[in-house]
Amino acid sequence: MNYVYSAVSSDLNFFGNTNPVDLAEKYGTPLYVYNENILRDKCRELKNLVDYKNFFVNFSPKANSNLELLKIVREEGLWADAMSPGEIFVNLKAGFQPGHIFYISNNVSDEEFKYAISAGVKISVDSVSQLERFGRLNPGGKVAIRLNPGVGAGHHKKVVTGGKKTKFGIEIKYLDEVKTLLKKYNLKLSGINQHIGSLFMDGDSYIESVDSILTVAKQFDELEFIDLGGGFGIPYHKQENEPRLDLKSLGSKLTKILNTWIKDYGKEIIVKIEPGRYIVAESSILLGTVNAVKMNYDLKYIGTDLGFNVLVRPVMYDSHHDVEIYRKSDKPSTKSEQVRIVGNICETGDIIAKDRLLPDIFEEDIIGVLDSGAYGYAMSSNYNNRLRPAEVLIDSNGDHRLIRRRDTLEDLLRNYEY
Ligand code: LLP
Repeated sequence: MNYVYSAVSSDLNFFGNTNPVDLAEKYGTPLYVYNENILRDKCRELKNLVDYKNFFVNFSPKANSNLELLKIVREEGLWADAMSPGEIFVNLKAGFQPGHIFYISNNVSDEEFKYAISAGVKISVDSVSQLERFGRLNPGGKVAIRLNPGVGAGHHKKVVTGGKKTKFGIEIKYLDEVKTLLKKYNLKLSGINQHIGSLFMDGDSYIESVDSILTVAKQFDELEFIDLGGGFGIPYHKQENEPRLDLKSLGSKLTKILNTWIKDYGKEIIVKIEPGRYIVAESSILLGTVNAVKMNYDLKYIGTDLGFNVLVRPVMYDSHHDVEIYRKSDKPSTKSEQVRIVGNICETGDIIAKDRLLPDIFEEDIIGVLDSGAYGYAMSSNYNNRLRPAEVLIDSNGDHRLIRRRDTLEDLLRNYEY
């Protein structure tokens, strides 16, 4: 096999005892390939972020809820958050204890609250209105509130979840109303949580928001935990040597702030973070096949099976993912040229990599889309009645196995009675 353009995956020995061309042949494409060692490393990096004995990491399965990956994350000692009854259900199936699952609800119905309450998970509410609903359903219970600390961060305005332009969290000025409702329904405020947004590469806004949540938390003396949120970014421009988030510096700042606060609070309560992307993004390369190559009005198009039903991030947020090229034959690429890599969906916006300078690409080449483990499969769909891809794991021994099968055509009909 010819690794035409593959520095990142080669350096990592990402594909273990196999190679992307053989994987594509065996399992077909599009195919999400995960590397267990990388996933475990990322779990460990964040578990060691803060030096405080009651520091825990809640994985956010919204980034990736493959059952086998969740089991690995759980084995690494992480807990999990959930954004929906479905995520609670799958987390339980993956073996997380109910007490280790944190349901961060947003605009939910009585039925959803009841499901979470009966599952025995920890629950946070996102507004005064939802606190009242929760109180009516579960008087005397425990509840957490999601704070909007007034500061946000993120790679795109659609994923900034703190500050003045978001639906999330409770503004500090409504805390008196919160206290009134806690009393009215005899609720115990067991936790305060926040999440300011997704993907920061320097920790300043995160630290600012931590100061804010800790100031609020001081007003409540029965807290069992504080959850500082996720958002830890990864470098998507690895081929240009984009620097990594400086976890060491962020960790030591957090360690200092938290230990000082805990001393002052007088109880060693749990402090959590809730990362999704950081844990799982870099553990996957998405493989696709080049089915066509053509010129269209001076632009070269590389036509693949990587439609935005498979990976929507480039289309939805203009996100960049580095791409690699692998080839079965030993035919060389003799020049570089600017190309647009597109999928097979009937929309002009169906572009996975826009106007990249790459070694020339031929039909049957395999394209690898890097850092696709977070919000990749999780946001895939059956748009155009396309089938959602299969997922394969390269395990710690370098061997591969299927961890979720590709949709079948029959799956497209499974919700009909016919
Ligand atoms: N906690 C809460 C309450 C969240 O809403 C999120 C992400 C996380 C934690 C985890 O954030 P992370 O560590 O993964 O940044 N689909 C977008 C990202 C959406 C993030 C939604 N919330 C993307 O592909 O970039």
